[in-house]
Amino acid sequence: MTAEPVETRTRYDAETLATLTTDAAAIMARYPDPRSGLLPMLHLVQSIDGYVSRDGILFCAEMLGITAAEVSAVATFYTQYKRHPNGTYTVGVCTNTLCAVMGGDAIFDELSEHLGVGHDETTDDGAITLERVECNAACDYAPVVMVNWEFFDNQTPGSATALADKLRLGEDVVPTRGAASVCSFKQMSRVLAGFNDGRADEGAGAGAPTLAGLRIARENDWRAPDASTSEPVAEPVETGPVGKPGSSAERPAATSSDTEVGKDKKPGEDAK
Ligand code: FES
Repeated sequence: MTAEPVETRTRYDAETLATLTTDAAAIMARYPDPRSGLLPMLHLVQSIDGYVSRDGILFCAEMLGITAAEVSAVATFYTQYKRHPNGTYTVGVCTNTLCAVMGGDAIFDELSEHLGVGHDETTDDGAITLERVECNAACDYAPVVMVNWEFFDNQTPGSATALADKLRLGEDVVPTRGAASVCSFKQMSRVLAGFNDGRADEGAGAGAPTLAGLRIARENDWRAPDASTSEPVAEPVETGPVGKPGSSAERPAATSSDTEVGKDKKPGEDAK
């Protein structure tokens, strides 16, 4: 199905605009309220421009009948939407708690020095945008590096810089789990817009560390209780504050907030 191009203030050429319009119409049709399609539409824009451009913002606004300011408000809220041209590869180093203590910070520092860029900066050749990223729910493989959201598990500063060098040389790299290859940032953005690239079922999703609990449960014949026959869970009995001798639980009630459970007080209200 080809949708009619909208009246536009964007500077896309006619062919690009026609393609964008058709794809955006397909996204909007997924939702009862077309406006709900804004997030994937922003990924669609990134699949063309490599970031959320001025034209992309105007395009989304015009398609959805909302203001450019409203589109910008959404685009600036999420870190996956880029405000300047992104590299071919986003190399995201997880520096959340578990990855950090397992070496994520050291990996980021090494990559930053090796590539000569800091957080959210792109190498001169346009190959790599380096980022600190939040937890990728892959803590059992810490420290983790993501390349365009594909997993590279159990990294070290040395393996991460070798990975970055390969990416800059245009050599193929193989994620530890999931897809068998890494596509470009623009290609990945199109997938995030909801257009299947056929790679979703490649490779293994869950490796041995993820399945360790299941393996141990099977070895010991541990099973979850049958919900239909198990005893109902007893309501918790209110026992008041508990704590070790000398802890704050033994402090006598001094204000109404100590005794009136659930009553919200503003700071300093009890002092009146
Ligand atoms: S802390 Fe890095 S994947 Fe969870």
